[in-house]
Amino acid sequence: MTRILMTLLVSLFLTVPLAAQEVADAPQSDRSATGGAQTLDDILARQRGEKIDDSFRSGATGDPDSAAGAANQLGTLGGASDSEVWRALRYGKGDVTVSTGGPEARVLIQDGGMKWLQFRKGPLAQYGAYLLGGTIVLLALFFLLRGRIRIDGEKTGRTVTRFRAIERFGHWLMAGSFVALGITGLITLFGRKVLIPAFGHEMFSTMAIASKWVHNNISWAFMIGLVMAFFMWVMHNIPNKTDLKWIAVGGGIFKKGVHPPAKKFNAGQKMIFWSVILFGASISVTGLSLLFPFELPMFAKTFAILNQTGLPQALGFGDLPVMLAPHEEMQLATLWHSIMAFVLMAIIIAHIYIGSVGMEGAYDAMGSGEVEEQWAREHHSLWLEEVHKAEGQTDGKATPAE
Ligand code: HEM
Repeated sequence: MTRILMTLLVSLFLTVPLAAQEVADAPQSDRSATGGAQTLDDILARQRGEKIDDSFRSGATGDPDSAAGAANQLGTLGGASDSEVWRALRYGKGDVTVSTGGPEARVLIQDGGMKWLQFRKGPLAQYGAYLLGGTIVLLALFFLLRGRIRIDGEKTGRTVTRFRAIERFGHWLMAGSFVALGITGLITLFGRKVLIPAFGHEMFSTMAIASKWVHNNISWAFMIGLVMAFFMWVMHNIPNKTDLKWIAVGGGIFKKGVHPPAKKFNAGQKMIFWSVILFGASISVTGLSLLFPFELPMFAKTFAILNQTGLPQALGFGDLPVMLAPHEEMQLATLWHSIMAFVLMAIIIAHIYIGSVGMEGAYDAMGSGEVEEQWAREHHSLWLEEVHKAEGQTDGKATPAE
């Protein structure tokens, strides 16, 4: 699974510089025949989806100073022809005044929507489906090869408390809402392609309306669960030296009888925890900006900070755009929201597998909160020692001094 994630991220990082290169390498058209206006070649290149340097158009928006005075013969022309006015509107350079609405109302034309739509129904849906499908196939293969990870030693019949009721409540609040958000999000993304052909427009309309309602409202439960999980478990998820030993033997999950020591959470679980916190926070923040349209623009500001670090330039992205139309902010928010959600869904599918069918005795930790002592000894030996020590101390303290 890690390999798939790496491939996705690397290809993401590699395709953007390539795209940037395309702009730089785009052949300069000879526009002398059109007096500098776009040529048939420009139009055809654009229709083929090629990147073209269109500064010759975006810059040609008229010159107010060239306007003939109102008192002159044939004045006033206003310094800009109709085409120049439309071009200024298209490139967000028009001097627009509106009586109501925020900054978004001043944007009369913006053409980012087409790119957004194509990315959403193209690579986003395609690679997203590959990622989820690939994860499920890999887990099925793992199950076929390794089978269920059993408790190797003899069961003791004694149990240890692993998670208190409040911890289990926080987990299931986050888990239940995440599953609902994932399913309704996928219905929204794949509806047109998969569900309309299968169920028809009318049925899909009902499903889409219900999905949107569930998605928008359940999001709060996820955010509350996320905050709870962070505060309840962050102290147990600080990386330490034991994690290196755990990683060195692959956590023992590939071989029967291998049980590296671990505290309350092993290195694998720490990776899950930090993925949930970081990806979950990123999904939540972009989700909030979609829930309150145009109120929480964040990409231009983030890009400005990133540009200052020099990182995008070092990676070949060049300067990231710091002037974004409010609509472009929303378009980026939906795309980032979905990309992060796909990555987290893939991670969570693996987590659900190992927390249920993949490992004997694991589910009890979040079910009843009580785990078999032998399970704890095999998977969290250092934690079990701590629990026994604490119990001993508690017993000691409870004895009244005489
Ligand atoms: C829906 C099915 C799910 C099942 C059956 C499940 C099961 C479990 C179990 C058994 C544990 C405890 C592992 C242990 O004792 O060491 C656990 C922990 C945890 N779960 Fe889930 N879980 C589910 C969904 C989710 C979801 C959707 C999220 C987050 C979006 C999540 C996040 C976590 C985190 C952060 C932990 C603590 C770290 C870890 O053990 O990896 N779980 N889960």
